[in-house]
Amino acid sequence: MFELRVVNRKYAQSILTVLRSKETTQIDFRKSLVRLGRILGLEIIEDLDTEPVEVETPLGVKVKGVKIRELDNVIIITVLRAAWPLTEGLVKIFYSAKQGVIAARRVEEKGMRNWDFDVEISYIKTPRITRDSVIIISDVMVATGSTLVRVLRELVERGRAKKYYIASVIATPIAIEKLRKVSEFLNIDLKMYTIAVDPEVNSKGYIVPGLGDAGDRVFGS
Ligand code: URA
Repeated sequence: MFELRVVNRKYAQSILTVLRSKETTQIDFRKSLVRLGRILGLEIIEDLDTEPVEVETPLGVKVKGVKIRELDNVIIITVLRAAWPLTEGLVKIFYSAKQGVIAARRVEEKGMRNWDFDVEISYIKTPRITRDSVIIISDVMVATGSTLVRVLRELVERGRAKKYYIASVIATPIAIEKLRKVSEFLNIDLKMYTIAVDPEVNSKGYIVPGLGDAGDRVFGS
């Protein structure tokens, strides 16, 4: 099952505008990604299972409340390198999350064929993935979807989780379609959260209008 959720909130869209501007400095770019990570986290948390609980306040009164049951099962997977600050924001919401990292690189030297890149994974480390795990993949720019398709395959090989989320900033229709297909192929429950869907990918694999090279803008070029 696949679902796309575009976070069309005023605050999120205003931060995306800062990210898109070529005038934005490295530090403001990084801080803006942290802010979006927090927003994406708050949106994703709305989808998690809860259970009713009762607590007693210091006034000796019992009140009904809610506990997010799946919070302790969250594993955040950061796709290096641009997603680092996005994950920083996610961790502010999923404060008890376990974390994994994947260093994945599109092999741009070989060029793009049919809106597809070869993807090279040089490092992958994840906590144990079980049937109860709720995986959130943090990846800023989902241009062709080649990297995320590979990441999902690698993760499923390590153990099937209960559900999978993608926390991204900009995606494209090409990537979304590819992710829909791979979720069916792998038979996983995948929900993609993004702040925007941009129409195009250029011949070098960059999203247009996009925001440029997110990794360079976070870390400096
Ligand atoms: N990665 C980026 O950093 N930017 C794009 O536009 C596409 C992939």
